[in-house]
Amino acid sequence: MLRLGGFVIHKGRVPRARQEEIVGALRDVAAAAPFFSPLTPWGKPMRVRMTSAGRYGWFSDRRGYRYIDRHPAGLPWPPIPDPVLDEWRALVSAERLPDCCLVNFYGEGARMGLHRDADEADFSWPVLSISLGDPATFRIGGRERADPTTSVQLESGDVVVMGGEARLAYHGVDRIRFGRSPLLPEGGRINLTLRVVD
Ligand code: SIN
Ligand code: FE2
Repeated sequence: MLRLGGFVIHKGRVPRARQEEIVGALRDVAAAAPFFSPLTPWGKPMRVRMTSAGRYGWFSDRRGYRYIDRHPAGLPWPPIPDPVLDEWRALVSAERLPDCCLVNFYGEGARMGLHRDADEADFSWPVLSISLGDPATFRIGGRERADPTTSVQLESGDVVVMGGEARLAYHGVDRIRFGRSPLLPEGGRINLTLRVVD
């Protein structure tokens, strides 16, 4: 376990067989709620493709960032897969389960700019992140955008808990090393973030 400015990084937390089980479950999630490219509030499509599972899904368009209770095509969000919830139960809480599992897919060249996860009602709950597939350079900052940053490599099976002083800290993904992991035969990286929304 590694601690970086309140970010708790569990390297190699999810065993390979479990990663495969999760990827299988995510194929069902994506069949029920297809990936889409949200627009930034500035009207540009994001490079990262997204979908969600749970009571809410995360969404963005010209009106801004928010949670919505249906997929933009009007479909209900599918339930969060159990092997994903197991990580939350083990590392966060067995009583209060997350309302949203945001599924981010990074294809070749995709990155995510520095941002904070601040669209939830209660910041006392951490955000839990699971990385699957190709390695990524994850950038970690502080509460202010101008705070100094460091970076850490996130690999398939790594889990990050962003709570306490890290809950509202800036973070982003500089780059992924496309095709390096054998987990997703077509290449790419999946990141799951579990959030308590309301
Ligand atoms: C996110 O901040 O929503 C994603 C983080 C990651 O891809 O590791
Ligand atoms: Fe985030």
